[in-house]
Amino acid sequence: MLATAALSSAAAAQSNPRSIVISSANGVRACARAMELLKAGADTLDAVIAGVNILEEDPEDTSVGFGGLPNEEGVVELDASVMHGPSRRAGSVASIRGVKTPSKIAKLVMEQTDHIMLVGEGAGRFAESMGYRREILLTEKARLAWLVWKQSLRDASGHNNWVGSLDAPATAAKPSAQLKRLFPQAGDDLLAWAWQVAVHPPTGTINCLALNAHGEMSGVTTTSGLAWKIPGRVGDSPIIGAGLYVDQDVGGAGSTGRGEENIRIAGAHTIVENMRHGMTPKEACLDALKRVARNFSDDRAKLLQFDLSFYALRRDGEYASASLWNGHNFAVNDGGESRLETAAALLER
Ligand code: GLY
Repeated sequence: MLATAALSSAAAAQSNPRSIVISSANGVRACARAMELLKAGADTLDAVIAGVNILEEDPEDTSVGFGGLPNEEGVVELDASVMHGPSRRAGSVASIRGVKTPSKIAKLVMEQTDHIMLVGEGAGRFAESMGYRREILLTEKARLAWLVWKQSLRDASGHNNWVGSLDAPATAAKPSAQLKRLFPQAGDDLLAWAWQVAVHPPTGTINCLALNAHGEMSGVTTTSGLAWKIPGRVGDSPIIGAGLYVDQDVGGAGSTGRGEENIRIAGAHTIVENMRHGMTPKEACLDALKRVARNFSDDRAKLLQFDLSFYALRRDGEYASASLWNGHNFAVNDGGESRLETAAALLER
């Protein structure tokens, strides 16, 4: 009986063979690169990792890898996970320091060890043992944002150790003249962005999922996590079943946004299980988001304080993304140019 079911599911995948890559909206270039590699016959995991490496290595991208926004001590700590459908294997790293491409280290954990997850200093030493040299990942742009964040913190009397006390304003101030002196090259736009991320710490992340013409699937999620986090904070991205899950028989799912809320519902695994039991990718993502809202008794005021997005790709090529709040896109490449599509939303602002 089981063998028959497996056979019929394999036949279903073969009857509609097409390569497709989806990702969070920041992954337009990642999808294009992954598709290029799928067309050249690359493995699905190698394809998605090469895709997200573009962002991990980009110093201008402050949400992942090199240039990611640091923890509260000004140190960049990265999280990533990978899942390979055909071999049903997984690997992840969390709070790794000094390596631009944690997705590659997660794959090495999967391939070279009999563990699934390495964290912190152990993950860094493992990367070194695999030939990686540790580097400083804090760019000038991210350092500026971190300093702005530090200057925005004040005690009850408006004091901040990072601003001269005699001319310190009484309340949290917008980018100060002192900041402009510290970073004379920084333009007003950069300082305004730094202020924005200081006041609203982002959880930028990229999730990328791929299906090839043989019906094989893989996924990756990589991030610098919540900006200004307590050192050692780990979000959902490296947690297999939360930030990423792939089941070769069913499909894959991943997430971006506030990891704490996703971990509480094991989002990616929940979505894959929903699809296994017959939901479409869109229904599966929205159902997971309903569970998040339920954890706050559907209190809009509380839910408005964060956002969370899911991405799902079924083994037959059906795909969707859904977010807690409206206004999000996601990236898709099914063989031509990458494009952005509108994500479904559980709630309207
Ligand atoms: N979703 C990324 C994080 O919360 O770290």
